[in-house]
Amino acid sequence: MELLGILLIPLLGLISLACCQEATTTSRPLVPIRPRIVGGRRASAGQFNHQVSLRYFGSHICGASIISANYVLTAAHCVKFGQDVTDPSRLAVQAGSLKLNSFAVYVDVAGVEVHPLYNNGGQGYDIALLRLARPLSLNASIGAINLAEQDPPVDSIVQISGWGAIYHGGPTSNDLLYVQVRNIARSACTSRYMRRLPSTTMCLLHGANLGACHGDSGGPAVYEDRLVGVASFVLGGCGREAPDGYESIATLRSWIISNSDL
Ligand SMILES: *[C@@H]1O[C@H](CO)[C@@H](O)[C@H](O)[C@H]1NC(C)=O
Repeated sequence: MELLGILLIPLLGLISLACCQEATTTSRPLVPIRPRIVGGRRASAGQFNHQVSLRYFGSHICGASIISANYVLTAAHCVKFGQDVTDPSRLAVQAGSLKLNSFAVYVDVAGVEVHPLYNNGGQGYDIALLRLARPLSLNASIGAINLAEQDPPVDSIVQISGWGAIYHGGPTSNDLLYVQVRNIARSACTSRYMRRLPSTTMCLLHGANLGACHGDSGGPAVYEDRLVGVASFVLGGCGREAPDGYESIATLRSWIISNSDL
């Protein structure tokens, strides 16, 4: 459904929204393709202990982050389609494992709260809180991450992680992968990549054959051990030399705090 050039692709991969024209990119030195998120490295035990896999009838659909023993934060588009919010009884999270297929710590979701200003993928406010049916017991492999109070500085390096597809249209990864991306200025993002960048969204730029992909939605972006972003969309397709859209925790923090037990 490519209407005007670039597509905003929510990382769940169900909806595509047309946006604005693609800006020309300057040529850059080739970035070496690391073992495969797209181009990711394997996480080590405890490195992203806030990362969980969100399950729909047992199947991985999205990433999410533990913010307290009772709550995880994900993307709204993982749990809301049109006006329909997914019934919590269909959802669960898997925590504490680098492997997608471990099922070791598996907890049902008891409540879903979508940001009231969320409308559609690519329009901002793309976050939702999931209340767990029982508290997680936190340890070295299951940890709550602190919410950032500020966006990462312009041009700082942020880590994103997930079990999402390893290339556009490709399979998910059984190993948790991560990649480093760069938080670019809003002005650079709107002039070069996206005319209408939602006010709640950050642009995390990466080179070709790197970045978030389907199944990474809702997953974390971390800077200095704090949660700075929630994966919302990719521009054009996974692995393109373009920014990924991540919802800004600093911007949405007060809603997250008022609607959880933080
Ligand atoms: C953390 O707790 C879970 C059970 O809640 C357990 O399976 C896992 O081995 C623990 N991990 C560590 C590093 O203690």
